[in-house]
Amino acid sequence: MLSRRGLIVGLGGLASAAIMGRAKLAIAAQVEPFSAPLPLPSLLDARRQGNRVKIAAREGRHAFIPGIPVRTYGYSSDYLGPAIKVYRGDTVQIEVENKIDRPTTVHWHGLLVPARDDGGPRSLIHPSQVWRPELKVDQPEATAWFHAHPHHDTARQVYMGLAGLMLIEDGTGLRLGLPRDYGVDDLPLILQDRQFDAAGRLVYFGGGPARMTGMRGDTVVVNGAIAPNAKVPAGIVRLRILNAANARNFDLSFADGRTFHVIAGGGGYLRGPVAMRSLVVAPGERFEVLVDFSDGRPAVLQTAEDDLSMGMMGPGMMGPPFGRRSPASGSLMRFEVNPALSIKAKAIPPTLTTHVAPDRSRAVARRRLTLNMGMMGMGMGDGMGSPMGINGRAFDPTRIDIEAKIGTAEIWSVAPVMMAHPFHIHGAMFNMLSLGGRSPPAHLAGAKDTVLLREPAELLVQFTQMATRDKPFVYHCHILEHEEAGMMGQYIAT
Ligand code: C2O
Ligand code: CU
Ligand code: CU
Repeated sequence: MLSRRGLIVGLGGLASAAIMGRAKLAIAAQVEPFSAPLPLPSLLDARRQGNRVKIAAREGRHAFIPGIPVRTYGYSSDYLGPAIKVYRGDTVQIEVENKIDRPTTVHWHGLLVPARDDGGPRSLIHPSQVWRPELKVDQPEATAWFHAHPHHDTARQVYMGLAGLMLIEDGTGLRLGLPRDYGVDDLPLILQDRQFDAAGRLVYFGGGPARMTGMRGDTVVVNGAIAPNAKVPAGIVRLRILNAANARNFDLSFADGRTFHVIAGGGGYLRGPVAMRSLVVAPGERFEVLVDFSDGRPAVLQTAEDDLSMGMMGPGMMGPPFGRRSPASGSLMRFEVNPALSIKAKAIPPTLTTHVAPDRSRAVARRRLTLNMGMMGMGMGDGMGSPMGINGRAFDPTRIDIEAKIGTAEIWSVAPVMMAHPFHIHGAMFNMLSLGGRSPPAHLAGAKDTVLLREPAELLVQFTQMATRDKPFVYHCHILEHEEAGMMGQYIAT
């Protein structure tokens, strides 16, 4: 049998011992693995509310560790937010109230709307103010999300809980017979790593070495719970996986080695299901996977270590506590089959979309973007070296870096420096043309807005949404501390 200590990601790990001493083990002893039920974000069906949706960013108290409620943020809830379901063809009127004591924004990550409604770093909602974007939903069925994005406070606000899911529907899943009974055979899994202090409170530090590695914690939470347990029917189950961590990649697999099928990678369904045994999910990325539980056996979802890929500035060079920030591997949660739950999906459809292969000859421009770590990799832009940024320049809200034309496509060749960076573009989808000079793996071949780059990639980016000089879109590294340190640029599309 597995012993309790060391079973759960991070608990009993070296990093926690170094940072927290005995206190951390006290916390570990209070968490019984797989005892808490998987929390389910409430489903907010926009159509059922006449396409009028109200959410409020507010403070809350949430018990990550049972019996220890701590200060958090959430969207109309104590931690995280509702899963908002929207339908293609509808226009959804949103009302976002800011009930926290700092300016915030709400960015619709993966939703294709004009920049004025996108909620980027410049669309601040001041405390007690209300923002009313209009979301015209016109894109294929997909799992998107939303999160806070105020410049210089994004990372902390997301860490405290300002993130939620957005489910876009166009009837495809229904037609294909995919699992779509929310909370039964269609489960959202929001993955995050968190650090707790001796009293069980959330600890956030974004400065110093965290500017390089990003904020990483030694405990993984799924929908805000440590090592939860989900009951599933003995059939095919869809998992909508969102990595909402600030910086950590998850390298997911099942402890029994079972195969699962990736059906969607952020911007919509793939051509067909891709059978895999392990899947890396980077911050900001979503994947939908189908898992077959018809054998009736329980299955533990686990993650391998996050390989920081920092080359000569490797984690070992960073010194404590960051030297071993993400060593943790272990179990995230368990699925248990409940034979009483009715089985709606028994088979995996062989074809999902009639997706046309991206055509590079359509590109009207080629751009090169290098994601650089700055002097000594520490992100210090002090004139003695390059700042953390893109192409040697840190983010400047007064500078437009790229001017594109709506209705066209461009090839962006994006090269990571020193470590793997999850590259994200607002307001546009891309298809990867190549990764490390080769054709991309099948599960990364569909439309995406975020992709982990360990090697240079060529992305064919399609511009469909309006962004002007006073309301531009941004593109950035989705390690939120990198974004805040300057690894972000602005583009317009007219
Ligand atoms: Cu998740 Cu700027 O985005
Ligand atoms: Cu985004
Ligand atoms: Cu980065």
